[in-house]
Amino acid sequence: MPKLKSLEQLESLINELKEKENKNKIVLKVALGTCGISAGSDETYEELLKKIEEENLENIEVIKTGCLGYCYAEPTVEVNEPGKEPVLYGNVTKAKVKDLVKTHLVEGKIAEELIIEETHKKAI
Ligand code: FES
Repeated sequence: MPKLKSLEQLESLINELKEKENKNKIVLKVALGTCGISAGSDETYEELLKKIEEENLENIEVIKTGCLGYCYAEPTVEVNEPGKEPVLYGNVTKAKVKDLVKTHLVEGKIAEELIIEETHKKAI
């Protein structure tokens, strides 16, 4: 690896590495702000990890984020696939995680019954 001689070179390398790493990775963001937690988003997070492992799904990262701004629809999960607009799901309780994983991550379809409508409209 060549020596980096400027901040610009470092930033360029960081961006290049991020691009490589994220090229095929699906990232699920689970909102764990205060109202998310009170609605059970920590259980949603744990259930997502469990179901993804059970389905042997690879290249999926589940991360915790702060508030996404949808109090009324907590727990919320944002699915980010490379090259696609993010899809935001709401009211994803522990019991609904199985449907979300099966429909979106296994079958590759939008889980229409869980979508937060206004975001879905923005995304398409
Ligand atoms: S405080 Fe409820 S979604 Fe942010």
